[in-house]
This record gives sequence, structure tokens and C-alpha cells, in this order.
Amino acid sequence: MVLTVELGERAYPIHVADGGLEGLGAAVAALLPPGRAALVTNPVVGALYLDAAMDSLTAAGFEPFSVMIPDGEAYKTVDTWHALIESLLAARMTRSTPIIALGGGVTGDIAGFAAASVMRGCPLVQVPTTLLSMVDSSVGGKTGVNSPRGKNLIGAFYQPRLVYAGLQTLTTLDIAEIRSGLGEVIKHGLLQDPALFALCEERPEDILALSPDVMRALVVGCCRVKADVVAQDEREGGIRAILNLGHTVGHAIENALGYGEMRHGECVGIGMLAEARWAVEERGCDSEVPVRLRACMERLQMPTRAPTIDHDQLITAARADKKLSRGTLSTAILETIGRVRLERIPSGEILSMMARLEF
Ligand SMILES: NC(=O)c1ccc[n+]([C@@H]2O[C@H](COP(=O)([O-])OP(=O)(O)OC[C@H]3O[C@@H](n4cnc5c(N)ncnc54)[C@H](O)[C@@H]3O)[C@@H](O)[C@H]2O)c1
Repeated sequence: MVLTVELGERAYPIHVADGGLEGLGAAVAALLPPGRAALVTNPVVGALYLDAAMDSLTAAGFEPFSVMIPDGEAYKTVDTWHALIESLLAARMTRSTPIIALGGGVTGDIAGFAAASVMRGCPLVQVPTTLLSMVDSSVGGKTGVNSPRGKNLIGAFYQPRLVYAGLQTLTTLDIAEIRSGLGEVIKHGLLQDPALFALCEERPEDILALSPDVMRALVVGCCRVKADVVAQDEREGGIRAILNLGHTVGHAIENALGYGEMRHGECVGIGMLAEARWAVEERGCDSEVPVRLRACMERLQMPTRAPTIDHDQLITAARADKKLSRGTLSTAILETIGRVRLERIPSGEILSMMARLEF
């Protein structure tokens, strides 16, 4: 199945393949001329999929070489980005050498930022291997690294030339990583696709067992929603901010805890629940939403309560939100399942959202 992100001359395909990475080389060769290609991955993903990616690219006429970056959110830093750039330059890449990011969201974000910045930009291919990166981070062109002052504070919008998701790569993921990805899956359903949300409610066992037909439906459904939103508003001047549902509270938890303490998608899930309760109590939205959302998260064995966090740290983290502008924040208000609107809310109301967290 191939979807398209409709961005005019920067439009690009998202391949959702049932197998592993066998078709990667042919998909890249259909868009980029043969030559050297830099495969960026980490030791964990590399041990599992680097050979398959290399073989597929070689068979399609490329001369791939690999560059390793360390594994984990703690390494999503300027230092890792800089070391990667230096390795790429030492390998004598040119501006036409594609960077192929093979891994989860951390690899995709760092390698994407390297592609945006090395020699002022080279072609980028995203090959997501986690559920979260397939349904969210590989599509839409946000790249970057964390600062000690906050998450993703350093980066660039830089669209890939293509995204290639081989669904079979999900089978080697830790179940905790699947649950984390499900936070973003549920988000896409809540935003625009009630059938996708219903699938999460109705088939939790199949989802947790990674049943191929359900996983295909989840990845395709999410990519469709994300591609549609990004095509309308590439640089988050307006509607794209709806994709931040759950992230105002979720990022504050992540930031207050320290990166990597809890998984991103889990924080987003807990954040969505607090934001949905706030929308009911402060904006009169559909009261079924937080009830169904909580039940759905429980069925999918996702955490619904925030870990114990120092209250002041949480508030400080919320106040540091990079999306705050003149004391207000463009916020996704969940009216009902599948319908959302944007509203600028004052920062004080963010604290009232935090107050809806369950501990
Ligand atoms: N750019 C965006 O639009 C965007 C959107 C959402 C999230 N993000 C970012 O994505 C990051 C989280 O991504 P993630 O959840 O994919 O985490 P991750 O990249 O850290 O991957 C999770 C773990 O799974 C391992 N792994 C990856 N694929 C595997 C596979 N197939 N089999 C076995 N192990 C595998 C990784 O090495 C890592 O240890 C965060 O930094 C977040 O900020 C970015």
C-alpha cells in the first residue's frame, strides 16, 4: 500500500509493506539515482535489520555504507548529531548522497536533522522500525534533537523523499514499545478517524498480538490522518497544532521526569486523558470521550496514571513549552471522538489541565 503526502513539488510516498525491508531498495531507486547511500542506525536496530537494508539497496544499484549512532532518547542530543555529521563528512558523502534513517523516532529525528543540515541539505529517506515512528514521527518532516532546557528545542522542518515502513520489523519490538506507539495511534483516531479508534477499542488482543491485518490498518489509518493534516499545514501555522493533542501535558511529564524515564507515547496517552477530562469540565465537550479513552487504554495495557512527579517541576516544565506564545498556547480541544477544534488558551489553563492528571 502506498499513500502520498501531498506537498506539491515536495510530495512524497509512504510505503506500508507487509514484509520486512526487501522492497526498500526498489522504492528508493524509483526516486533517487543510484550511487552511495548512508544508512544511519543504532546497534540494536542495526543487529536486526542493517544487513537486510544493505542487501536490498545493493540489489537496487546503490553502494550503501553505514553510520552508527547510540541507542536511546538520552542520546538525542547536539553531541550525537554533531558526531554523526562528522562521520558522514569523513565518509566523503556529497550533497546527493541520501541519508537513510533506519530505526525508531530517535534515529529518524537525529538523522533527519543531519540530512537537513549537512552541506545545507541532502535527500532523506525514513525507514521507521517502531510503531511510533511508523504512525507518527517518520511522516511530516519534523526533525531535531533535545536541549537540556526542553525536548526537541533544536531542529528543522525537513521532509523526507520517501518513507518505507516494513510491518514485519514490528515483530522484534518489545511489547512496551508497541504500547508506547499505541498512544499516538489512539491520538490519530481521536482526532479524525472514529473507525481507527473503534479498532483500538474492539481488537486489543489482536493489536497486542501484532496481527498483520490489524497492524496494517492501524499504520495506514494513522499515516492517512497525519499526511492529510501535514498537507494542509506543513509548518504548524494553524491546523497542524491538532497533532499536539496530549502533548502539552505529555511533554511536561516527560520533561519533569527526565527524558527516557517513561516512553513518549505513554506520556502522550496519559496527557490525552487529562486534556480530555479538562475539555469536558471546562469546555462542555462530550463526556463519553475520557470514559471510552481510559477504557481503551486499559484494554491495551497502557498506563493511565502519571508517575509521582514533583509538582513544581511539572509546572516549570509546562511553562517551558516551546509552543507558548505571548502566554497562550494553540490547543486541540477534543469535542467528540473524531472531531477536534483549535483554541488559543492562556497558560493558566494549562495548569488546570495538569490538575486533571491521575496519580
Ligand atoms: N518527528 C516527529 O514528528 C516526532 C513525532 C513523535 C515522536 N517523535 C520522537 O520520537 C522519539 C520516540 O521514538 P520511538 O518511540 O520510536 O523510540 P526509539 O527510537 O528510542 O525506539 C525505541 C527502542 O526500540 C528499539 N528498536 C527500534 N526498532 C526496533 C525493532 N524493529 N525491533 C527491536 N527494537 C527496535 C530502539 O533501538 C530503541 O531502543 C522521541 O524522541 C520523540 O520526540 C518525533
